[in-house]
Amino acid sequence: MASHGNFWVASFVFVLVFAFANAQLSPTFYASTCPNVQTIVRNAMRTAINNELRIGASILRLFFHDCFVNGCDGSILLDDTATFTGEKTANPNRNSIRGFEVIDTIKTQVEAACNATVSCADILALAAKDGVGLLGGPTWTVPLGRRDARTASLSSANAQIPSPFSSLATLITMFSAKGLNAREMTVLSGGHTFGFAQCSTFRARIYNETNINPTFAANRRGTCPASGSGTNLAPLDVQTPNRFDNNYYTNLLTQRGLLHSDQVLFNNGSQDSLVRLYSNNLATFRSDFAAAMVKMGNISPLTGSNGEIRRNCRVPN
Ligand code: HEM
Ligand SMILES: *[C@@H]1O[C@H](CO)[C@@H](O)[C@H](O)[C@H]1NC(C)=O
Ligand SMILES: *[C@@H]1O[C@H](CO)[C@@H](O)[C@H](O)[C@H]1NC(C)=O
Ligand SMILES: *[C@@H]1O[C@H](CO)[C@@H](O)[C@H](O)[C@H]1NC(C)=O
Repeated sequence: MASHGNFWVASFVFVLVFAFANAQLSPTFYASTCPNVQTIVRNAMRTAINNELRIGASILRLFFHDCFVNGCDGSILLDDTATFTGEKTANPNRNSIRGFEVIDTIKTQVEAACNATVSCADILALAAKDGVGLLGGPTWTVPLGRRDARTASLSSANAQIPSPFSSLATLITMFSAKGLNAREMTVLSGGHTFGFAQCSTFRARIYNETNINPTFAANRRGTCPASGSGTNLAPLDVQTPNRFDNNYYTNLLTQRGLLHSDQVLFNNGSQDSLVRLYSNNLATFRSDFAAAMVKMGNISPLTGSNGEIRRNCRVPN
């Protein structure tokens, strides 16, 4: 009897462990099936950054916009076709999100080494980590095993990615809806320590807001007219636009945040003390950012037999 009991307990525990293991990502997911994937991604990102410093930032943003729309499932990579509407034309993405060619290049190299094994969603997670690390930021271990979506959602992309005109309360609410608290929202906003934004995203701020450094505003107005074309770029971090450091936060202290949604983090509100902390303490910013990236990367992954391993990141198999 006792041994039968043990058998059933053991079976139950096995099923439980298996069920959870199945839903979990793991850093060693490809250890036997594609042991070189991390090296391939890193080398390809190094080449891409040597070609264009901005690309590290662009790939980090791609990952953020993937994860916030039904989880980190590669949905943002799917192209529109006559019969399929993806996320690329959603308001936060249209004429703005970039870096798809780099993901294609990496995918081709990964397929050549390990056919039909590594998901586009995992490639994006690894590439985002390398984009940060190669430009001076922290690194972290990326849990792997995400699978790729066969679908995408334009309406979710429009509704769930925050706008640069958001209030602090809205930012906190929208991150909270993804399981990320206010502190994680503020540290992930530090992603704006590199990369660029178009005039249309900060025009209202530099012409009409009062919590802005006047010299900074005047400089920005020099290349961002009050009306007309809004595509001219400005660095999100006025000090070191191609370096992943904590200058994003020191900018906020002097009211030199570029976007409205940046400066609300330091505007006599709940995040002020955290902005001061990150501006004074690079090590804390780096470790908090890394931890929050892992957490963002864990949003609703497809695992087990859900989804697929796409052959081409732009089209479902
Ligand atoms: C807090 C809410 C956020 C808002 C409202 C926001 C909004 C924006 C906007 C409007 C741009 C400029 C896009 C353009 O003009 O084409 C931008 C760029 C960027 N965002 Fe965010 N963002 C947010 C959070 C994040 C997070 C969490 C990350 C990553 C951890 C991130 C990473 C980036 C990067 C790296 C760029 C520059 C991309 C490039 O140069 O190609 N953002 N963001
Ligand atoms: C890669 O895998 C796919 C799907 O299993 C298969 O159709 C294709 O022939 C394979 N290509 C190579 C080069 O092995
Ligand atoms: C600034 O505010 C005024 C008054 O509300 C408005 O007419 C104008 O369009 C705004 N300018 C920009 C660039 O947003
Ligand atoms: C915060 O409030 C103080 C006191 O009311 C004011 O002097 C200061 O300009 C405000 N700062 C910001 C960033 O709004």
